[in-house]
Amino acid sequence: MNNSSVKIIGLSVAVLMGLFAVMLVLKERPAQAAGTMNCGCHPNKASKTFAHQPVKDGECTSCHKATELKHPKFKKGAFTLTDNGKAGLCNECHERKDTKKFVHGPVGSGDCLECHDVHQSDNKYQLKEAGAALCFMCHEKASFDRKFPHPPISEGKCLGCHDPHQSDNKYMLKGAGSSLCMKCHDKAMFTGKSTHAPVAAGECASCHATHGTQYPKLLKKSFPEDFYASFDKSQYELCFNCHSATLADDQRTGAETNFRNGMFNLHFVHVNKASKGRSCKVCHDPHASSQPKLISDKISGFGRWRIPIRYTKNEVGGTCVVGCHKPKSYDRNDPVINP
Ligand code: HEC
Ligand code: HEC
Ligand code: HEC
Ligand code: HEC
Ligand code: HEC
Ligand code: HEC
Ligand code: HEC
Ligand code: HEC
Ligand code: HEC
Repeated sequence: MNNSSVKIIGLSVAVLMGLFAVMLVLKERPAQAAGTMNCGCHPNKASKTFAHQPVKDGECTSCHKATELKHPKFKKGAFTLTDNGKAGLCNECHERKDTKKFVHGPVGSGDCLECHDVHQSDNKYQLKEAGAALCFMCHEKASFDRKFPHPPISEGKCLGCHDPHQSDNKYMLKGAGSSLCMKCHDKAMFTGKSTHAPVAAGECASCHATHGTQYPKLLKKSFPEDFYASFDKSQYELCFNCHSATLADDQRTGAETNFRNGMFNLHFVHVNKASKGRSCKVCHDPHASSQPKLISDKISGFGRWRIPIRYTKNEVGGTCVVGCHKPKSYDRNDPVINP
């Protein structure tokens, strides 16, 4: 053979090999196109604002494991998903979400995809819904409709208090007892020289319902909103749930209360009036105070003026100075004349 025949044969072989290679490429096209966000043929799986990292990276086969059935010829059975796409698949790359004491229902059953889209979403963390709407896919929205809802609830911030997956606290709460509340509220409001026993015990829930109630200030039972109230025990249900309602019942009293001058009941005098009875909060802070017996150091006065109260207590009674008035004293054993 001469040189040119060799060249022609060589060229033909090269062309054939080239063609063969092209055919191979065509045949294997979807596989070759792995590494794109549509795997060659599928609609783009990472076109939304938040796409799962391995999807964005075109690593479809890190989850969709090819079987011996060739795709795309076979549509069914060409790929498998570890654990049928349930938590077992996620756990291949993520830390387990079901190791703490209290695990959320759908997390425990491995149904991560009830809340997350595995490929992409317009919500952060590829969530199927944003804010409280996610929770209301399964929890009844109507049961959160309260006359006075806690502001984070009305703002849809369920995650201010709950972890969506798990926690060592009951109800997947982000803190136990009052430490949950202190994530957003100022601790100073709940500490002082005298601290109300249930507050000191971290039992905010003995007076407040966290999601909201039919009463103002998330209170579980009635308590007057205003400074003055015409006396009716049912208005003070909150306090009388734990304290005896008799403390303001009678004009003359012995053991019912220590706030008395001799037998003269000073709770009765201040509280038990048909009109302009003073609410407990005129004198007591329901949480804590820098003075004994939860006596507030200021009372809401007129407009923005807060009237200072100075209260001193002794073994048998006490003395109170309100604003610039003269001191007033009471004594249980030896009643003060013109107190
Ligand atoms: C992190 C794991 C994971 C990655 C990565 C992944 N997928 Fe999926 N994919 C799944 C799971 C789980 C399902 C089944 C659950 C579902 O339908 O939501 C699924 C379903 C599908 C389906 C059928 C249902 C549908 O959504 O159309 C297609 C097609 C698909 N994936 C294509 C892709 C392509 C293409 C890529 C790469 C760009 C990819 N997937 C990357 C986990 C993954
Ligand atoms: C092949 C590995 C792989 C698998 C399997 C996988 N992921 Fe991911 N995922 C990643 C990587 C990588 C990231 C980005 C890095 C990170 O934030 O952890 C990510 C991020 C996420 C994020 C967002 C985190 C953020 O901070 O934005 C969520 C939510 C998520 N994955 C959920 C899932 C769920 C649910 C499953 C199971 C259905 C799953 N992943 C399976 C690799 C994987
Ligand atoms: C009830 C809905 C719900 C279920 C079920 C759920 N998640 Fe989440 N997940 C969320 C929410 C909400 C966030 C955002 C958390 C935030 O904003 O702090 C999140 C965030 C994440 C993140 C990113 C932040 C982090 O905590 O690491 C990953 C990863 C994740 N989820 C994986 C999973 C896996 C794996 C499962 C199943 C075992 C699962 N999720 C089940 C609602 C859910
Ligand atoms: C896919 C459905 C689903 C979604 C979405 C969902 N939950 Fe749940 N949730 C459940 C199930 C199921 C239970 C268990 C009910 C039971 O045990 O009675 C549960 C229980 C709870 C509990 C009580 C746990 C306990 O110990 O009694 C809380 C708190 C909770 N969910 C909060 C949330 C919050 C907050 C969201 C939104 C971030 C949310 N859930 C979204 C299904 C869901
Ligand atoms: C300010 C904190 C806080 C916020 C915000 C909050 N929760 Fe709760 N949640 C609690 C506490 C505390 C409990 C424990 C029971 C109780 O005290 O009522 C609870 C209990 C639950 C329970 C189980 C008991 C029940 O009442 O069914 C579910 C379900 C629940 N929350 C869902 C939600 C959802 C959904 C949202 C958002 C719409 C939300 N929570 C917002 C603090 C909160
Ligand atoms: C995620 C943040 C957050 C957490 C956690 C939280 N709160 Fe609140 N709370 C608020 C916001 C915001 C307001 C409205 C502004 C304010 O009064 O400080 C509010 C207001 C209140 C009010 C007054 C409501 C009204 O009608 O004026 C009470 C009572 C209350 N919270 C009790 C609690 C208790 C009890 C806890 C713990 C179980 C708690 N909060 C945990 C954010 C939070
Ligand atoms: C003994 C009952 C009781 C307990 C226990 C209690 N509170 Fe209160 N709380 C009240 C009352 C009553 C009010 C309303 C005071 C008013 O009307 O000015 C209130 C008001 C509030 C307010 C609103 C304050 C404002 O200025 O509007 C917040 C916030 C609050 N409480 C948080 C808490 C937290 C957090 C705890 C637990 C550490 C707690 N409370 C425990 C009775 C209680
Ligand atoms: C959940 C139960 C509970 C509720 C509700 C409650 N208290 Fe108390 N309170 C206690 C306990 C326990 C003590 C300590 C023992 C005692 O003196 O009876 C206490 C003590 C007090 C004291 C004396 C404090 C001291 O330093 O000796 C005052 C004042 C007081 N409460 C006022 C109120 C007022 C006002 C209300 C309504 C806003 C109220 N309490 C609601 C449980 C409660
Ligand atoms: C005018 C101020 C004032 C008002 C209003 C007031 N208290 Fe008192 N209260 C006091 C003083 C002062 C003491 C302390 C008595 C002592 O120990 O010397 C006290 C003590 C208490 C105690 C401790 C037990 C006792 O009786 O000695 C309780 C409980 C209490 N008050 C509850 C209430 C409740 C509930 C209301 C509203 C229905 C209320 N107080 C209204 C000033 C007031």
